[in-house]
Amino acid sequence: MIIVKDLIKRYKEIVALDNFNLRVEDGEIYGLLGPNGSGKTTAISSIISIIPYDSGEIYLFGEKMSPNKFEIKKNIGYVPQELAFMNELTVYENIDFFAGLYIYDKNERKKLVEEAIDFCGLENFRKFRPNKLSGGLKRRLNIACGICHRPKLIFFDEPTVAVDPQSRNKILEGIKELNSNGSTIVYTSHYMEEVEYLCNRLTIIDKGRNLITGTKKQITEKTSLKDKLIINEINIDREKVDKIKKLPYIDSITYEDKTLCISLGSDMAIGTIITFLKENNIYYEDLNIKQANLNDVFLEVTGKELRDNV
Ligand SMILES: Nc1ncnc2c1ncn2[C@@H]1O[C@H](COP(=O)(O)OP(=O)(O)OP(=O)(O)O)[C@@H](O)[C@H]1O
Ligand SMILES: [Mg+2]
Repeated sequence: MIIVKDLIKRYKEIVALDNFNLRVEDGEIYGLLGPNGSGKTTAISSIISIIPYDSGEIYLFGEKMSPNKFEIKKNIGYVPQELAFMNELTVYENIDFFAGLYIYDKNERKKLVEEAIDFCGLENFRKFRPNKLSGGLKRRLNIACGICHRPKLIFFDEPTVAVDPQSRNKILEGIKELNSNGSTIVYTSHYMEEVEYLCNRLTIIDKGRNLITGTKKQITEKTSLKDKLIINEINIDREKVDKIKKLPYIDSITYEDKTLCISLGSDMAIGTIITFLKENNIYYEDLNIKQANLNDVFLEVTGKELRDNV
């Protein structure tokens, strides 16, 4: 669906994309993750020919992409990071305008606009001007404008920034539905839990370069991150902690505030630890396994925490 090879994009001295690569298959929800200024928006804008780039190759639907490829563009939906609609027009008129860029048949357009209104939950706001809408509703209008022509490939650039949890859930469910109705999705976000929930594959970028690419499982396996066994409200002396540390497949261990945190070299260590605790009459309240999540991976590969860019 998308092939991007060695893309380079400079804004004067700033190298926004530095040999950026991307491969998205038909039917995927693909995550594009990176901290502020890492090049996510620039990547999307280059791919869909909104901005020129310096070198590299871009293929969409198996064809080389360029600004005048109207047949490709009409199969693309773009929900930009910055809200993009006209304040002079009503909700209905805005969606109708964007649908009108690709759909010329009046009746068909009317049907599609109504479907987009329904899909984004804007039924009660048809005649509102955008400046009368809440932040969450503006985001939904932004989405309606981007998807109303029923594109096969949709780019969402941080669609849930600064929206309340209810609107956010509606947006996420909507994206899943668009995908199950056949659209391929590229999704950027700072919210790891969203990407974990939505995307089957992802690439983490920083300074315009791909740092790591794959499924969530492949990515956590590629990094050195280990699952952790957390044991709460446990009374154990130092000597026993040191003994656990020497058991097979234990990477590291910390004991603070009655919580024992053990980094596991293999899941096989769990049984051995439980047996050890039992044999030594060591009691605890609960025990759980914390799997490395994408936040941990992100921190590991970029050295940065994810931040919200509200
Ligand atoms: N129009 C522009 N002119 C000059 N520099 C730009 C322009 N747009 C982006 N940049 C720079 O290019 C780099 C990549 O920016 P980009 O907006 O693509 O990042 P991003 O990953 O989308 O960030 P964010 O998470 O904040 O949206 C940054 O250093 C940014 O300052
Ligand atoms: Mg951006």
